[in-house]
Amino acid sequence: MSSNRKVMILPGDGIGKEVMAANLQLIDWLAKHKSLNFDISEDEVGGAAYDKYGTPLADETLADAMASDAVLFGAVGGPQYDDLAFELKPERGLLALRKEMELFANLRPAMVFPELVEASTLKPEVVSGLDIMILRELTGGSYFAEPRGIEELADGTKKGFDTNLYTTGEIERIGRVGMDLARKRNGHLMSVEKSNVMHSGVLWREVMTALHAAEGEGITLGHMYADNCAMQLVRNPKQFDVIVTDNLFGDLLSDCAAMLTGSLGMLPSASLGATDPATGMRKAMYEPVHGSAPDIAGQNLANPLAQFLSFSMMLRYSFDQGAEADLVEKAVGMALGSGKRTGDIMAPGCEQVGTDGMTKAVLDALDSLTR
Ligand code: IPM
Ligand code: MG
Repeated sequence: MSSNRKVMILPGDGIGKEVMAANLQLIDWLAKHKSLNFDISEDEVGGAAYDKYGTPLADETLADAMASDAVLFGAVGGPQYDDLAFELKPERGLLALRKEMELFANLRPAMVFPELVEASTLKPEVVSGLDIMILRELTGGSYFAEPRGIEELADGTKKGFDTNLYTTGEIERIGRVGMDLARKRNGHLMSVEKSNVMHSGVLWREVMTALHAAEGEGITLGHMYADNCAMQLVRNPKQFDVIVTDNLFGDLLSDCAAMLTGSLGMLPSASLGATDPATGMRKAMYEPVHGSAPDIAGQNLANPLAQFLSFSMMLRYSFDQGAEADLVEKAVGMALGSGKRTGDIMAPGCEQVGTDGMTKAVLDALDSLTR
């Protein structure tokens, strides 16, 4: 059925294909039981796009993504692409989407489901009830800033270099998103950089402080060095509410935060652009934080829950379907409560299932929640 919600699906490589297929079952369920319909287009990205089009992101694919209300992304990468030229590597497809769509704000919530407390490598009392948000700047810093490259030196050896660079404007716009998020949560924003070592960090702290003074009423702002933040995340993660940080630190700290929740297979993310004042819409892409996991791909072993939770973020942030998002999240919790587990979150006394079994557990929970 046609709708005014245009969603582009990019499964990508490895387990991206399987978890996206599972996600489509969820989408079908919502169409059937909640009359929630999407106009769906689908294309390849990453290695699969290289195989089909000779590039990790074809121009037509990008154009379609730009014209969509939201992009639902799987994962990219695989060992068969390791020897490709840098610009042709699968990851370049993902990075080009982020950059071209100007998705500067990457929301990576880390929540511990009560059923998974035991799956964390940390003590239950450290992680139970954890609910933090890592806000990662996604289109600047060392991932994109120039100059960057590999060049030959006079003696025939080489130098490889990247630049970490942030402008006032880039820091302000991510800082604003951080304050908005903190306002809707517990009112605490922790800004994370390395201003003890890096000039970009000095400016980051200065701009965050000024922004908070000007617009941060009702919010407390703290500052922390990134190395200390990594340590605090495993020491006492519940001290945080929202963490705002740059592209590279956000990459590292969000993997660390993901493990607090038991598995990378549980962590969703939303990448958002600026709101268009004319339409009120913002470009958006939703993707699980886990990668393409080539070692388990195609074996019905992947945990689809991070993909489902990314989809629920899409319902919430792009389509204002909070009730349906709550329903999906509740069903994920119930599926875990039923004792079904994929291998990555397996625990004693639980029943190990595959991607299909986990998906069925969520669909069954949806059925029972709406009966
Ligand atoms: C992530 C991933 C990506 C990144 C890779 C796949 C390019 O690790 O989204 O965290 O480094 O940003
Ligand atoms: Mg990463």
